[in-house]
Amino acid sequence: MSNEHAIVMSGIRPTGFLHLGNYFGAMRNYVKLQDQYTCFFMVADLHALTTHPDTKELKNNVHRVLAENIACGIDPDKAALYCQSHVRETSELYLYLNMLAYLGELEKTTTFKEKARMQPDNVNAGLLTYPVLQTADIILHRATWVPVGKDQEQHLEMARNFVNRFNHRYGEVFPAPMAYNFGEDLVKVPSLDGTGKMSKSENQLATLYLADSDDLIRKKVMKAKTDGGPTSPNSLKPDYIENIFQLMRLVSSMDVIHHYELAFNDCTIRYGDMKKQLAEDMVRFIAPIRGKAESIRTNETYLKEIMEKGADKARESAAATMKLVREAMGLQY
Ligand code: TYM
Repeated sequence: MSNEHAIVMSGIRPTGFLHLGNYFGAMRNYVKLQDQYTCFFMVADLHALTTHPDTKELKNNVHRVLAENIACGIDPDKAALYCQSHVRETSELYLYLNMLAYLGELEKTTTFKEKARMQPDNVNAGLLTYPVLQTADIILHRATWVPVGKDQEQHLEMARNFVNRFNHRYGEVFPAPMAYNFGEDLVKVPSLDGTGKMSKSENQLATLYLADSDDLIRKKVMKAKTDGGPTSPNSLKPDYIENIFQLMRLVSSMDVIHHYELAFNDCTIRYGDMKKQLAEDMVRFIAPIRGKAESIRTNETYLKEIMEKGADKARESAAATMKLVREAMGLQY
């Protein structure tokens, strides 16, 4: 990342338990970025309403996401950690951006099509304009770097389109936001059953959550799909086997990974042993995060304090941007 004054922004929806995909796609990068850049990390409670209109669990889920972010290493003294609905400027900018977003492009968005298929009785306008709200979150701080997983790539592309349209019509107010990962490509953490990605609400038995108990982690890993092993040397790995290797690359040591790569190539691999090793490495990775998150989650006073401090920082940055936006748009009479 070149610009030392770069602004970083990202968010996570409070729609369930956070998992390994959220960690390796997003939070790991948050932690690395917070030391060098001005960072805004938010719990996207407004976005959650597009799919979870029942708000009974919302408070618990907001607390959980905050606690898990802190347990993963976010330092609320360095980064602004806040809740989306506490920054009302978001809704104002969302409204203006909606006039620059076209029905055709919104309907073509992959996440919209997926969600419309999953909840045919609730294809609400918020679902359609989800990428517009996400753009508002990001550009409200004039952020340029957005640490996210691979599944958010299209939303970032749309954000750049909305920014270009705004700047073209009203003058240069916003820099173009880019999806960011510390490695090369954006990350997609696969599910354990080889059928897709880890997810907060779908495919829960094939997803490793940061709150899973040691036994549950072991059970889920041992159930991952394998086969009888390769029959000829140096063969291509089937997708579900490549997924297990990919998960191992996230949490296991180089020696362990190397050992199983060699064993695969010379056809001596025993998937039972490999999964046992992976399960233990996962337990070693997840258990300390789970422990920390549990103790933070129950400390409501502390979480409230963090949220208020984060919202203050976010509101200050948002107010400065909105002043420029209203000036640029000529909304001053
Ligand atoms: P959400 O809540 O679905 O996911 C939060 C973050 O986790 C990443 N992620 C993954 N990365 C790799 N592999 C996976 N299996 C995996 N599953 C999830 C996501 O890419 C994301 O980075 N729309 C966003 C929330 C949002 C936002 C924003 C993000 C709202 N406003 C502004 C960035 C900037 C979402 O639904 O993320």
